[in-house]
Amino acid sequence: MWGSFTEHLGRSIYEGIYQPDHPTADKDGFRTDVIDAVKKLNVPLIRYPGGNFVSAYNWEDGIGPKDKRPTKLDLAWRSKETNQFGIHEFMKWAKKVGSEPDMAVNLGTRGIDAARNLIEYCNFPKGTYWSDLRRKNGAEKPFNIKVWSLGNEMDGPWQIGHKTAYEYGRLAHETAKAMRLIDPDIELIACGSSSHQINTFGTWEETLLDQAYDDVDYLSLHQYYDDSDHDLGEFLGKSVDFDHFITDVANICDAVKARRHSKKQINLSIDEWNVWYHSKAADDKQAPWQVAPHLLEDHYNFMDALLVGSLAITLMKHADRVKIGCLAQLINVIAPIMTNTNGDPSVWYQSIFYPFMQASNFGRGIALAAKSDVPTYQAKDYEVPYTDSVATYDENGILTMFIVNKSKEKVDFESTLQNFDVQGLDKATQFCGYDLMKTNEDQSMKLESMNQVTVSDDKVSAELQPLSWNVIRVK
Ligand code: AHR
Repeated sequence: MWGSFTEHLGRSIYEGIYQPDHPTADKDGFRTDVIDAVKKLNVPLIRYPGGNFVSAYNWEDGIGPKDKRPTKLDLAWRSKETNQFGIHEFMKWAKKVGSEPDMAVNLGTRGIDAARNLIEYCNFPKGTYWSDLRRKNGAEKPFNIKVWSLGNEMDGPWQIGHKTAYEYGRLAHETAKAMRLIDPDIELIACGSSSHQINTFGTWEETLLDQAYDDVDYLSLHQYYDDSDHDLGEFLGKSVDFDHFITDVANICDAVKARRHSKKQINLSIDEWNVWYHSKAADDKQAPWQVAPHLLEDHYNFMDALLVGSLAITLMKHADRVKIGCLAQLINVIAPIMTNTNGDPSVWYQSIFYPFMQASNFGRGIALAAKSDVPTYQAKDYEVPYTDSVATYDENGILTMFIVNKSKEKVDFESTLQNFDVQGLDKATQFCGYDLMKTNEDQSMKLESMNQVTVSDDKVSAELQPLSWNVIRVK
């Protein structure tokens, strides 16, 4: 569930993951300060190499001796791509941070042929042109990449090689067929809608699934939220839209399933989700064709952290269906982790780092469907509960409650635990008290202990601070 995403975009790879001349770089040119920060987030799956980038990417440009790799134009982000970082580097780096890849294939400018060569290169043991080339390039053993994305946002008119749902469905079907002939054990993600609001939403899913239902394991959803209304209640209420989006897509998958008399369930991969709006005006002013330009460098404020926490809670509530969730993205580009090229601190954590880190580290095991009774407020499109909450029960026997208080008042929270052998409080933290617009370049934002928590035989009570993200762990 708690994956992330790194794309050849801006300073996500170069000056993020890879910077051979940085004081903290290891022998592979990877920044160890970034590796340490990524490890804190504990993300088991990382999507790569895009994003919009993948739809015009030739993966072969990023293999072989680095001095022979071509510099090319990246059309998606109108930058220059030096190809000094490619599949081998990504696989090595992913291992260092303890993550598995979700590898995307280019179904924009390319198709079945490039995808089947790529999977032969990555997953076939030896004795063929592509597998032996991988070995020659330093990876004797196959990468055995299990999770693959069939393109990116193919519903979006901005996508290079954008397709109709029928065209994409056919291509996804044929590409999946060829890839599975090489490796039958892979899991495949088809591109669903790139937002709940796009006008093809619904028909896109139905039409493509009619072509590719039997070939794929997951359908993707992408969603970013912004503060277009300049209104706190509207902004924090976006988690309700996220909840509806997930339910809608699950329902569409099940309608197609019913129509086909199928026994197979399609699960959901929310492989891009986040808040994204701060950097848009600055990005429009960037000169084209730079190497690693400062693009999509949102500096997140405290209000954004509350929504990210609330979106994470929404994901956990849908854990029965959402099997992959990738915060987009990981480093420098709409990211929880930022780097300074030479400055101090070399790495800094954004406000959104904290709720995501806690959700990722503690939101494991079984998600519990808690019944809640909370007051609501009316936003433009939805009725929004003042508090959002969910609980998980992990393999160490710890029950974790995640709660966002969206109200400007303190709230008395009480939870009744049934059939749970309570020993006491493990730890409770809160993230609160900051100006809504405060960003974290100065690294002053911190999780703090929550004092007003009592745990009895079957009850947990807490006083939630106004506008707060809270995590209560009970053993
Ligand atoms: O994450 C940034 C971009 O957002 C991705 O490249 C694309 O898939 C989406 O539109």
